[in-house]
Amino acid sequence: MLNARMREALNDHMAKEFYSAYLYMSMSAHSSSTGLKGFATWFMVQYHEEMAHAMTIYDYLNRQGAKVRLLEIKEPPSGYDSMLDIFEKTLEHERYMTKNINELVDLAIKENDHATKIMMQWFVSEQVEEEDNVDNILKRLKLVGNDANGLFMMDSELGQRVVRMPLDFSKGIDLTANVAG
Ligand code: FEO
Repeated sequence: MLNARMREALNDHMAKEFYSAYLYMSMSAHSSSTGLKGFATWFMVQYHEEMAHAMTIYDYLNRQGAKVRLLEIKEPPSGYDSMLDIFEKTLEHERYMTKNINELVDLAIKENDHATKIMMQWFVSEQVEEEDNVDNILKRLKLVGNDANGLFMMDSELGQRVVRMPLDFSKGIDLTANVAG
């Protein structure tokens, strides 16, 4: 059983995860339009990851018997200056998501909501990995600079990324199930 504050905070966070999916799909579309199909693949995999994050919150709300609210999702940007610009915005966005997740954990502690605190631990760890991955790509993009060959090599490498998250949400999804607690 979730209290009203926690329920609303989780509904709000779920919308932010859906927005993340929308944002990365827009970055995938932009990458594709500039001929960087590998970057487009990387961002479409990221889209699927964010959908799985959002649906994990959805599943948790359902399992807790809490009302799910599908809040409005704003339109993400559709134009970007460069791949460097895209990854700078990606890192900025992931840091924003980390801040939100930390605030959710703070709220769970304040409300003595142990179940939500345990569930959110997975997200805390996931954010460390997400920020690290994006930061590494950003550093390499800075090294590559305006070198087209370097960019195409990165494009080829990032295009190898595959979806490792469940894609079928019809029977629920709980990425946090293996978190000890
Ligand atoms: Fe689900 Fe990348 O934050």
